[in-house]
Amino acid sequence: MRDWEKCYQDGETPWDHGSAAPPLLEMLERHGPGLLGDGPVLVPGCGLGHDVRVLAECGLPVVGVDLAATAVARARQLPAARAETYETGDFLDPAWRQGRSFTAIWEHTCFCAIDPELRQRYAEAAAELLESGRMLVGVFYLTPDMAPAEPGPPFRVSVAELDEVFGRWFELEAGWVPQRAYPGREGREWVAIYRRK
Ligand SMILES: C[S@@+](CC[C@H](N)C(=O)[O-])C[C@H]1O[C@@H](n2cnc3c(N)ncnc32)[C@H](O)[C@@H]1O
Repeated sequence: MRDWEKCYQDGETPWDHGSAAPPLLEMLERHGPGLLGDGPVLVPGCGLGHDVRVLAECGLPVVGVDLAATAVARARQLPAARAETYETGDFLDPAWRQGRSFTAIWEHTCFCAIDPELRQRYAEAAAELLESGRMLVGVFYLTPDMAPAEPGPPFRVSVAELDEVFGRWFELEAGWVPQRAYPGREGREWVAIYRRK
């Protein structure tokens, strides 16, 4: 498993572009923050919290959680937007989820970063944290040119697999290739809106 804490300590964070995911901005333009309910919204694997702050600027209470304490400490040092908070924790750990509930989850490069064997646990964790009718919305990094067994992270993700992994608990409401992307990710991402069954 990748030592995420060490990556942040060593400054080896090529995934961090210093700004929120362009597909998040596109999703907010298309659907508005109302899609995510009144909050709190959870951002698992939030890193330095760029997406967290954009969601908080929309007036939503937002919780960013990340395994890496250094990422969380840096996120807290950046200028706050509004009602956002950060926690060091493991989203896949039932103890972290105990007693929590969210009106939505925003996913961005956490799903593709975890070991593929843990994907079912990711979907189960998301399902546990959302009541029926609530939304799991995410931009999923697709790597169509990767061989299935190629080592990651990021690990290979396909749209078909996403629908299979989340389908037990979620209905797919919409999915599209975002027009807005970080340089180099154009055409390699998929935004999906899943509604909790
Ligand atoms: C590729 S990075 C993406 C970070 C951030 N979303 C971004 O785009 O800048 C993946 C992040 O997920 C975090 N992570 C991995 N597994 C996690 C888990 N089970 N619970 C919480 N965070 C996790 C890592 O520490 C890392 O910060």
